[in-house]
Amino acid sequence: QEYYLGIDIGGTKCAVIAGTENMEILERIQFDTNTNKGPDYAISKLLEIATAVVKQLNDYELISIGISCGGPLDSKTGIVQSPPNLPGWDNIPICGLLKYKFNVPVFLQNDANACALAEWKFGAGKGTDNMIFLTFGTGLGAGLILDGKLYAGTNDLAGEIGHIRLDEDGPEAYGKKGSFEGFCSGAGIARMAQAMVIEKLEKGESVSFCESIETVRNITTKDVAMAAAEGDETAIAAFEKSAKYLGIGLSILIDVLNPQRIVIGSVYARNPHLFDAVCNSVIEKEALEPAWKVCEIVPAELGDKVGDFASLSVAIDGISRTN
Ligand code: BGC
Ligand code: NA
Repeated sequence: QEYYLGIDIGGTKCAVIAGTENMEILERIQFDTNTNKGPDYAISKLLEIATAVVKQLNDYELISIGISCGGPLDSKTGIVQSPPNLPGWDNIPICGLLKYKFNVPVFLQNDANACALAEWKFGAGKGTDNMIFLTFGTGLGAGLILDGKLYAGTNDLAGEIGHIRLDEDGPEAYGKKGSFEGFCSGAGIARMAQAMVIEKLEKGESVSFCESIETVRNITTKDVAMAAAEGDETAIAAFEKSAKYLGIGLSILIDVLNPQRIVIGSVYARNPHLFDAVCNSVIEKEALEPAWKVCEIVPAELGDKVGDFASLSVAIDGISRTN
């Protein structure tokens, strides 16, 4: 039987996944990236685990390896170029290292692109030719499936929408205030809520999910989502602010790319009801009507499996392009 190896490299966790073309998972091993120990630690661990997995699947045939990693990176040379969430990973020739060891084709993709492939083939993007996947977690990135294939751009920067400035002020990301990632990411929502809570507490008003100014910094997006679900107006306002900018950002994507479906992960996928009303009304005002009318906005479907499916999809997609 044939199988593929997926390598999922994240700022918190790394995983090695062995799976078939239909995403039947044969083996999966993960470990903490421990970014404080530098890239050598994680890379030697990845190689060690991959070697053990390949050995264990001796009776099967390894076809290719796919790596999913945060950008910037160069998919053509297979080099990771210092992603912000992987300090010290400067110009790591990750594909070369794996190719040397296993002697099969090795492919590297930006994590958002890899997730787009996975949701397109196996999740909420099934059946479309023009689909955009948005990560909405620690960061905000997009993967673009256009005319039935992944579009990565001239040097793998297509879909770096988190970097786009949507307003002059707002939470900072990429050193830019008011960027799309500032408004639409886990950290961004927490920061907007924190600012709103401080304003309320200073006026002597109370907030259900934070008692004093001293603990404001501990507020997480999860706290805000829970408070919003219970009807707390400050929490709802923080999500509505994020939803407004999500609507503005999506309107740009809809007008430029005319997609059939936009699939959104993590924070959005867990709380679509906290975004939809505001986001949709902004889109109906901002985007071209015939464009938004054909575009569905839906939560991602793969949940916790997305990283496994994403890296395996990179392995499979890479082979299908070279054949
Ligand atoms: C990075 C993207 C990445 C996204 C999701 C952004 O901060 O610039 O390359 O796809 O986060 O991890
Ligand atoms: Na991308």
